[in-house]
Formats: sequence, C-alpha cells, structure tokens
Amino acid sequence: MSSYPFPALFLAIGIFNLLAPPHPAPDYTATPAATPETEAAKAVIGAKCIMCHSKNPALPFYAKIIGAEIFIQKHVQEGTGMMNLQELLAGTSTDKWAYDRLEHTITSQKMPIASYLTLHWNGKLTQPEQKTLLEWIEQRRTKSK
Ligand code: HEC
Repeated sequence: MSSYPFPALFLAIGIFNLLAPPHPAPDYTATPAATPETEAAKAVIGAKCIMCHSKNPALPFYAKIIGAEIFIQKHVQEGTGMMNLQELLAGTSTDKWAYDRLEHTITSQKMPIASYLTLHWNGKLTQPEQKTLLEWIEQRRTKSK
C-alpha cells in the first residue's frame, strides 16, 4: 500500500501547469517592445523564461508552499543572477556578451533547466520559438553595430 503523496502531487502540479501556464508579471507585460521582432521575442520569453530571469517574477500559487518556495526562489535568484532577460529586452543590460550567451543556450537547448521541465511538460522551446529568439538576437546585434 502506498500512502506517499508525491506522485499524486507531482501529477496534480504538472496538470495544473498545463491548464494554467505561467504568466508574466505586469511590469514585464508593460516593458515596451520597439520592433515586431522584440514583441515576438517578448512573448516567447514571457511564456517560457521570465519566471526565473527577472527580479520581480509572477510565481505560481504553490510557490507559497514551504519547501517549494525555497526551491523556486533559488532558481529565480540563480537564473536572474546569470541573466536578467527583462533588462535585456528593455535594452538596459550592460552585459556585452549577453546575446552570445543567450544564443548559445538556445542553440544547445540548455534552457529551461531540467527540474523545471519535470513539472512544466510543455516548457521547452519549440522550433519556431527558437527561431523567433534567434532572429531577435540577430536584429539586436545588427542594431548595436
Ligand atoms: C525554472 C527556472 C528557469 C527557467 C524557466 C529558465 N531558466 Fe535560464 N537559468 C536558470 C538557472 C538556475 C540558471 C543558472 C544555472 C544554469 O546555467 O544551469 C540559468 C541560466 C541561464 C542563462 C545563462 C547561461 C550561461 O551559462 O551564460 C541563460 C542565457 C538562460 N538561462 C536563458 C534562459 C532562457 C532563454 C529560458 C527560456 C527558454 C530560460 N533560461 C528559462 C533558471 C531558469
């Protein structure tokens, strides 16, 4: 007899995340996008990346559960420490290697991190989403030259 709650909880959260996908915080939604390419990249990053790569992310209700909170906060701090994607979109990032690093994580499919994908079953970037981000990176590079 199994009374261990983990598999049921795991399934419940996985299904919840499919039905109510992560949504970005209002200050991310309000970040202006100057070009159609930026607008498209903003939508992809908002759906799949920003929850761990901005200082003020919108967290799911289960982030309040003790244990989950520590786990999620750690990823957000680490992810945002590595790259603040909200600043990058807004054009206020001072990291001159940011686009190269971002391009590398996309082409090598390093993001999102594996533990996130165990609970967000459609969290991976699709081919068209990868293309959208790579085109935006290319546009930003040409503009800053
Ligand atoms: C669940 C949290 C989470 C999500 C979602 C997430 N990341 Fe990350 N990201 C991290 C963490 C933690 C790190 C630092 C550790 C690592 O590199 O594995 C990181 C690191 C990075 C880095 C720095 C890599 C380097 O070595 O320079 C980039 C760029 C990045 N993420 C882009 C993205 C993109 C693009 C997405 C969306 C497709 C995304 N991340 C989604 C947590 C996340």
